[in-house]
Amino acid sequence: MLKASGESFAKIILIGEHAVVYGQPAIALPVKSIKLTATLIPRADQQQLIASTFYHGPLAAAKTSNFAGIAHLLRALLTFFGAQQQGFDLMIVSDLPPERGMGSSAATATAVVRAMYQAFAVPLPHATLLRWTAISEKLLHGNPSGLDAATTSAQRPQWFVKHQAPHAIAFPSNGTLVIADTGVAGQTKQAVAAVAARLNADANRYQPKITAIGQAVRQAAIALADDQLCALGQQLNVAQTQLAALGVSTPALDHLIQAAQAAGALGAKLTGSGLGGCMIALAKDHAAAQAIAQALTEAGASAVWQYDFAQSEDHS
Ligand code: PMV
Repeated sequence: MLKASGESFAKIILIGEHAVVYGQPAIALPVKSIKLTATLIPRADQQQLIASTFYHGPLAAAKTSNFAGIAHLLRALLTFFGAQQQGFDLMIVSDLPPERGMGSSAATATAVVRAMYQAFAVPLPHATLLRWTAISEKLLHGNPSGLDAATTSAQRPQWFVKHQAPHAIAFPSNGTLVIADTGVAGQTKQAVAAVAARLNADANRYQPKITAIGQAVRQAAIALADDQLCALGQQLNVAQTQLAALGVSTPALDHLIQAAQAAGALGAKLTGSGLGGCMIALAKDHAAAQAIAQALTEAGASAVWQYDFAQSEDHS
């Protein structure tokens, strides 16, 4: 084993969450200013030690912690490389707030797989990376679409359909997303299960909401291609209405969404699983984004970030 490190980014779902689990498309973007790095340092003894905000201690004792998915993935990787007895220190340093719909678990898995492949000097095709990250995501979320893993490992915004290879999608050069945190942990597993339960109980009522989100995603893609920010904002609002009808918005999310709208957002919605976590608002330019960001802070957001669409073309 060599000393190695792997990197990944936060992700934001622009539009399509939940419906993506049922085969509809989604659009998501990596936020490269919010990073996660995993560093592996070989040890001469056989100790396998983890240092992260989720878990601190030996790998063997991580089974029941909230690090269990990543621990399972690490064991599978060590078996794959025939290195079950290899000692190491694994340090995970993350700017991502956990459980806020920013893909923290998928970003951790991505960086760990990248570090491990680099440590054994083996090239890592992207499809192989996604197969590995699915291991921990499945354990954590039950029925993940794969969108989080695809986006946290990407350089550009992604058009994603479950069971298909994701591909990059171009964004306009103007427009800014304001991202705000309710300060309340999101609950991906519960939210995905709640939508599944509603669909099971009353498909006639809830399936059209999934279909409507898919339709909004396709319209959003057209708006992105045509540089039509107002039309894009409208589709974000359509998606939010459907997500609320699916039962995954919350009063805290609704409160921030209303504050953004009152401050001039072209559209606003929750992002990620909902039931807590973050929301996004679309601003026509940087000045409008500043006003919306301030309104969101005043409305009680625990953190606010900005993402200029222009930076989606940045390959650095
Ligand atoms: O809460 P997050 O960031 O893990 O996003 C979940 C997105 C869902 O569409 C709700 C689930 C999925 O697997 O795509």
